[in-house]
Amino acid sequence: MTDSLTLRRPDDWHLHLRDGAMLAAVLPESARHFARAIVMPNLVPPVVTAHDARAYRDRILAALPEGMAFTPLMTLYLTEKTEAQDVAAAHAEGLITAVKLYPAGATTNSAAGVRDFDKVRAVFEKMAEIGLPLCVHGEVTDPEVDIFDREAVFIDRVLDPVRRATPGLRVVMEHVTTSDAVAYVTSQDRDLAATITTHHLVINRNHILAGGIRPHYYCLPVAKRESHRLALRHAATSGDARFFLGTDSAPHTDPAKESACGCAGCFTAPNTLSILAHVFEEEGALSRLEGFTSLHGPAFYGLPPNDSRITLTRGDAVPCPAKIDTGEGPVTVFDPGFPLHWRVD
Ligand code: NCD
Ligand code: ZN
Repeated sequence: MTDSLTLRRPDDWHLHLRDGAMLAAVLPESARHFARAIVMPNLVPPVVTAHDARAYRDRILAALPEGMAFTPLMTLYLTEKTEAQDVAAAHAEGLITAVKLYPAGATTNSAAGVRDFDKVRAVFEKMAEIGLPLCVHGEVTDPEVDIFDREAVFIDRVLDPVRRATPGLRVVMEHVTTSDAVAYVTSQDRDLAATITTHHLVINRNHILAGGIRPHYYCLPVAKRESHRLALRHAATSGDARFFLGTDSAPHTDPAKESACGCAGCFTAPNTLSILAHVFEEEGALSRLEGFTSLHGPAFYGLPPNDSRITLTRGDAVPCPAKIDTGEGPVTVFDPGFPLHWRVD
């Protein structure tokens, strides 16, 4: 049995770092293991302009503890008022790595997102021209569509039409949760990739709803039935370079989660790599973990993989705190429901 595994240092291609006291508390949890991350722009107010992204990047770097290395890869939050020229200039100066599309109202802090996709056509065309990827929260917000169907419907109603209308647009379908999304991605050309979260490889909707409601497993897109989880596990561990890790680690304080109207998001930064090693080992795919965490993402984004390496060692159960303290209150760490044996040295 393998009990030591050395990988290129991983990157996280979808991460929520928040701001202020929460940023200060959660940033080290990612920087400890990850070299870079695509940083989500859904702050309040959102990171909309190049100016906002520069200021947010500087706050992240200022919050990084002494001696830790971490590169935030910044994104702009697409609105119906976003200017193609501002996006192109931010890309040209190396400030941003992607643009993020939230359909208005799809998830936490997405009210300023896009309602009318015709209004962002010029931005999509500019992005296709300059090769700047679009990260997509792929769920429709139509109240008539069942929440468990919103991802599959988004592919037909929005994603496929947008991609057909904008040849050359490079798209990351983020945090995919369905076999429909896996099938769509694998049926397309190399301009489309998908991120998969750690928690969607572990939980299905029963974990949220059966035998009591478990708010710490509630995230968006919401976990689906078991057959979908198995499709995600297959995609993640297959070695297909179109699938890579985006943890979507999304901290909310316990009172905000454990509420009559709780926030969506699972906080997985502290134990993600231990969980992934467990999952890949279960699938007999430990040799493909490095592709998922450290190689496929840089390849899609046209960046070099990291030079440095991390080693995971298999041993006695790894202790992981149930919560971390932040200046805003306690944040519960995702509980995979099984003991973890892979430790990041
Ligand atoms: C994210 C958040 O809390 O910002 N929540 C989540 O459930 N994933 C938003 C998002 O990525 O959808
Ligand atoms: Zn997210």
